[in-house]
Amino acid sequence: MPDPRPRPRPRRLLPLLACLLGALTPGPFGPTGPPLAGAEEGAEDLEDAERRSIFALIEPRQGEVIADVGCGTGRWTFPLARAVGASGRIYAVDIDPRKIDVVRQRMAVEAVRNVEIIHSLPDDPMLPEASLEAVFLNNVIDYVERRALAGFLEGIRLALKPGGRLLIRDPHGNPDRVIAECYRAGFTLIEAQIPLTGVPQPAFSSGWYAVKLRRGESRQPAILPRLGKPERHRFRLHLAEELFREGLLTREELRARWEAIQNAPGAFDPRVDEARDLLEAAAAVGVLDEADAGARLARRVAEAGAK
Ligand SMILES: C[S@@+](CC[C@H](N)C(=O)[O-])C[C@H]1O[C@@H](n2cnc3c(N)ncnc32)[C@H](O)[C@@H]1O
Repeated sequence: MPDPRPRPRPRRLLPLLACLLGALTPGPFGPTGPPLAGAEEGAEDLEDAERRSIFALIEPRQGEVIADVGCGTGRWTFPLARAVGASGRIYAVDIDPRKIDVVRQRMAVEAVRNVEIIHSLPDDPMLPEASLEAVFLNNVIDYVERRALAGFLEGIRLALKPGGRLLIRDPHGNPDRVIAECYRAGFTLIEAQIPLTGVPQPAFSSGWYAVKLRRGESRQPAILPRLGKPERHRFRLHLAEELFREGLLTREELRARWEAIQNAPGAFDPRVDEARDLLEAAAAVGVLDEADAGARLARRVAEAGAK
């Protein structure tokens, strides 16, 4: 395939950290990459349940075009290639040339013809536009440098066909924040499994979760996920806080949103901890001062008690 790297789009600097972290992250074969034959057979049994749960999330079908972005040494690239069959195609995308070399070698050894490799950039997966049914990110999103994330997600959104799906499965970080970033990038949430059950939870991170999103048409986070009312309001507040932190909302706009959210009927139950969290969050970002937050909480608890 032609080398996709010279596409004329403005680039930001390569975040060295993401590369190093990616390179140091042990995959199923350890940090130096897999031996090409034999070693995966034992792992295959162990990974069977995990593969089934991943496939239940992605739902790969024959003939589909799917990108395994941050594919590493191709742990999920090859099972996906088998699932989409000869009429389908898997793009194996990574910023680390050593990892994709391993994928390339394995393709040659196994004569795999429906995998296409893309050596991408941190803020651009360099995928062809509007051509994919799905994009899979397994243990990747938390490695994408914060400055690169908007471009990374925008590249994924543009590569998906309208309504195409984005599956994020990750053992690190904060799924709320990831969902908020995806909304800002123009995705809408279909399903969230937080935490993800049926996988061994890692000892030193916050635990596996999975989210399934769809490509929306807008970069504006206009449509909210199908959540219960309090979660919906908390999500809107969280999103407003993120926009404020990124300098996309003024303090006055954040305050106006916060007032609208916390005064909305049924926004939250002041008798539960969530009300305290919301008030504390508002105080933390300077929308309320602490005394005001405390007074509001006391008033709402009294009102709720009087009902
Ligand atoms: C922990 S590994 C996961 C590999 C693979 N997905 C798996 O489940 O075995 C993270 C991978 O993401 C890649 N990566 C990090 N930032 C990236 C970016 N902005 N775009 C594409 N790949 C990235 C790293 O090079 C690394 O190969």
